Amino acid sequence: MKRLDGKTAIITGGGTGIGLASAQRFVAEGAFVYLFGRRQEKLDAALATLGGNARAVAGSVADNDDLDRLFATVKAERGGLDILFANAGTGALVPLGEITPDHYQATFDVNVKGTIFTVQKALPLMRRDGSIILTGSTTGVMGTPAFSIYSASKAAVRNLARSWAQDLRGTGVRVNVLSPGPTLTELAAEVVGRDAMIEMGATTPIGHVGEPSEVAAAAAFLGSADSSFMTGSELFTDGGLAQI
Ligand SMILES: NC(=O)c1ccc[n+]([C@@H]2O[C@H](COP(=O)([O-])OP(=O)(O)OC[C@H]3O[C@@H](n4cnc5c(N)ncnc54)[C@H](OP(=O)(O)O)[C@@H]3O)[C@@H](O)[C@H]2O)c1
Repeated sequence: MKRLDGKTAIITGGGTGIGLASAQRFVAEGAFVYLFGRRQEKLDAALATLGGNARAVAGSVADNDDLDRLFATVKAERGGLDILFANAGTGALVPLGEITPDHYQATFDVNVKGTIFTVQKALPLMRRDGSIILTGSTTGVMGTPAFSIYSASKAAVRNLARSWAQDLRGTGVRVNVLSPGPTLTELAAEVVGRDAMIEMGATTPIGHVGEPSEVAAAAAFLGSADSSFMTGSELFTDGGLAQI
């Protein structure tokens, strides 16, 4: 018997990076996984690595009609949902003085509004003992130069979990935040560059940059009954970066 046998999961941003590694881990642990993201080609490439226990729906977390289509598909095909990993996220380096309304909007639309409506629209589908995983970041508790808007969006996500843990009292559904530190992914390479990411990883107490699979292992823990006494928490996979 595997840890996620019989579970249905949705992973937003599941076509690449941490989301894809988590999909691979969830499927290996017995789950049926839905990937959600905007680029069909990334979803197709991801599905090719996942075998028969995965499906994809293309769309944006910032678009409520796309989210409705995702949840209607899952309801029709699986009847309910056990694990929601709200992992889709975006960010860019913009220093104070150069922040524009568009930069603010693009970041908060995905990281905050996207997270809020992904979770709210999933709720009617969530089964008892369900697990909701939000995606924070070490930057949510640290100051990072030129990264204030992204960091503030992740701080907002962290607080959503504190309040939602209370809103979810009595439902059996748990909500926690998974906060990665420097992890080698497409987003990280785009924002800071691969070499800078590797250097940042070297400064952590663990001494190396994170691999998506290392974050996926923590996502599987939060998705499973092994974390049954956790809600409202934040779990860091950051090599100790934000812990010292
Ligand atoms: N890598 C790190 O060092 C690090 C550190 C802390 C936190 N995080 C967080 O970890 C999460 C995953 O990021 P990653 O590092 O794995 O980077 P990634 O590979 O670029 O993954 C981000 C995913 O989000 C999807 N996405 C972006 N905007 C979306 C939207 N509007 N609707 C639906 N999907 C959307 C992207 O797919 P499409 O573009 O195809 O939609 C992509 O698959 C993010 O929330 C990020 O903030 C990462």
